[in-house]
Amino acid sequence: MKPDILVTREIFDDVLEYLAGHCAVAANQGDTPMDARTLARNLADKAGVLTTLGDRVDADLLAGCPRLKAVCNIAVGFNNIDLAACTRAGVMVTNTPGVLDESTADFTWALILATARRVVESDAHLRAGEWHGWYLKQFMGADVHHATLGILGLGRIGRQVARRAQGFDMPVLYHSTRQADPQVERACNATFVGKDELVARSDILTLHVPYASSTHHIIGRQELAMMKPGAILINAARGGVVDDAALAEALADGRLGGAGLDVFENEPALHPALAGMRNVVLTPHIASSSTATRHAMAMLAARNLVAALTTGQPPHLLNPEVRAGFPAEGPGPHAR
Ligand code: DGY
Repeated sequence: MKPDILVTREIFDDVLEYLAGHCAVAANQGDTPMDARTLARNLADKAGVLTTLGDRVDADLLAGCPRLKAVCNIAVGFNNIDLAACTRAGVMVTNTPGVLDESTADFTWALILATARRVVESDAHLRAGEWHGWYLKQFMGADVHHATLGILGLGRIGRQVARRAQGFDMPVLYHSTRQADPQVERACNATFVGKDELVARSDILTLHVPYASSTHHIIGRQELAMMKPGAILINAARGGVVDDAALAEALADGRLGGAGLDVFENEPALHPALAGMRNVVLTPHIASSSTATRHAMAMLAARNLVAALTTGQPPHLLNPEVRAGFPAEGPGPHAR
């Protein structure tokens, strides 16, 4: 008998067909967001679920899902899932590393260029019929070429961001929990510095760390005060790694030159001060959202789910200590 699974949001038809070949699927192609109670009701009798970042999986939810064996997130980040609670409940958790690195790095550059060169602000000006001809000092921005790029977190995505900086002749500094191997530093043309030095020397500071208690407000009031006057902050990583209230103050003060933000504390809510600021580019958590990449993420999550329920060995298992109902095999190769 096919295992029962839930897909919490709309996915691609071919991914759904692949899942239906292996599982009895309860789909949500109408894409109605599920609140916690609806998710709990729909998941109560399921063996597996494909989740997205809006679905909170915690001990309360798990308590009502005694048959659940696998939670497969369509994302590389998994801060919507209480991994420890899943492990205690014997539920496998997977993510989708690797397939979104390049698209997310591309989008980081879209934010860098749009923020530094005031693309959104000048587009709005033109559309509003306010352009009355060329003049010398119109919409002057900051040069990106030859500016110092600071990367906080030189993981897979941070490295792709660094590689792209070479075309702009930028010195690249980075800070990570561990210094990267020399060959990685050479490929990225990036120099390791302490976090404070990174913050203080960057003209453009871009964040590529996951959200965890250790990265909560890793850019807070103190760090913002250390940034160069006129510097630009880019966050396409996770809401909560930046203190949005402190950022709004630093932007309002005119200390910072601008910010490009794809993610927010308390998403989908936006700090009210940010919406009114002209030197801020705001996008709704779409850095990975090219058609090809979102498809690859969905398919990878589906493959994780089918493998979890049929073999107990999904390729991207985050808690290898759990192989619910399957013989132990040792740690999975791709845990983040
Ligand atoms: C992820 O995969 O974690 C991204 O934030 C989703 O786009």
